[in-house]
Amino acid sequence: MHEMQVKVPGDAPREYTITIGADLLSSLWPRIKASFGTHRAFVITDEHVAAAGHLETLLGGRNIPSFVIRPAGEVSKNINTTVAIIEAMEKAYLGRDTVVVALGGGTVGDMAGFAAAIFKRGVPVVQIPTTTLAQADSAVGGKTGVDSSVSKNAFGAFWHPAAVYIDVSTLQTLDERQYRAGLVEAIKHGLIADAEYFELIESQLDAILTREPDILQTMAQHNCRIKGDVVEADPREQNQRRMLNYGHTIGHAVESASDYEMLHGEAIAVGIVAAGLIEAEMGLSEPGRLDRIRGILEKLGVPVNVPDQMDENKLIDILKHDKKAVDSWPKFVLIDQLGRIHQQDGRYAVDVDRKIVEKVLKQLR
Ligand SMILES: NC(=O)c1ccc[n+]([C@@H]2O[C@H](COP(=O)([O-])OP(=O)(O)OC[C@H]3O[C@@H](n4cnc5c(N)ncnc54)[C@H](O)[C@@H]3O)[C@@H](O)[C@H]2O)c1
Ligand SMILES: [Zn+2]
Repeated sequence: MHEMQVKVPGDAPREYTITIGADLLSSLWPRIKASFGTHRAFVITDEHVAAAGHLETLLGGRNIPSFVIRPAGEVSKNINTTVAIIEAMEKAYLGRDTVVVALGGGTVGDMAGFAAAIFKRGVPVVQIPTTTLAQADSAVGGKTGVDSSVSKNAFGAFWHPAAVYIDVSTLQTLDERQYRAGLVEAIKHGLIADAEYFELIESQLDAILTREPDILQTMAQHNCRIKGDVVEADPREQNQRRMLNYGHTIGHAVESASDYEMLHGEAIAVGIVAAGLIEAEMGLSEPGRLDRIRGILEKLGVPVNVPDQMDENKLIDILKHDKKAVDSWPKFVLIDQLGRIHQQDGRYAVDVDRKIVEKVLKQLR
């Protein structure tokens, strides 16, 4: 088992512990009780995570009020589910002395975190992520929220967890496609911050794909350290935190143009290759770098090109509507070396000419 701290600066600075291990879930409840002595717990999960047995393992027969989100996934990540969660908490006579426990993937974590942020003006949330994506990314960093019918994460709050427990054993029940897609965020972490970590993933890919607990714990440590460091430096995403958006500008456009048929990590894989091609156009490439990245993504079985039927003009149009666009054109996060962000005047998201992007989209076929 491994522990690390994340310190969030600001008006009310705070610190939380991330605990990483295998087979943690069955012994976790007494630890949560010990950390939140007088608080009463409310557990939020979804139907697949519950069906996989993880809720039972966590609660061990204890009678704890809980909410099982049905159907699981993005379709339920909306304000109606949030209302249902909050009202279930009220009906269970819970008050300001509640601790919300989020057991599940990123959708559960985002929804439970958001419910915790607004219930009685805010109660603590413990995150127990159970997908590769949530363990690598969403459980750390404090972004919570739900979608509107118009856009993703339209409602939201920064609400940092009070604690994070990563049990890599929960990943054993995750389906193969979800498992692989979530690993793309780990590759992203290597690319933006740590060449050695990238090389570790590259050399250990077989063990990663067979879900060996040791390598999964090592990866969780790297992921949390990298994301934790960035969040500590820039909790509100004023500049440096934008580096986590590597591959996400074009990736989000592809995800949205697929009408969310592609999983987030799958679309980000295309976005990472796109970033590599942009880097080549801008003289930021190194020999062999993009081939190695493509090689890993192909071995993962995630897409490395824009799907055939996807219209380029649609992608350009979505890019113009990017929520971080300035003058209707987004900024891009690029690297100039494995593990190093390319900065322009200290800025982590930089200008890329529209013609370069158009050319790159043509190359991605
Ligand atoms: N807050 C952040 O910083 C942040 C960062 C990245 C992504 N996100 C959000 O995360 C969400 C995606 O998260 P996700 O990819 O984890 O999706 P998800 O939560 O929908 O989980 C994917 C599927 O796997 C199932 N599942 C989860 N854990 C399981 C397990 N251990 N065994 C069997 N089935 C399991 C779920 O029920 C679901 O059907 C998106 O809404 C995205 O916006 C948030
Ligand atoms: Zn992402």
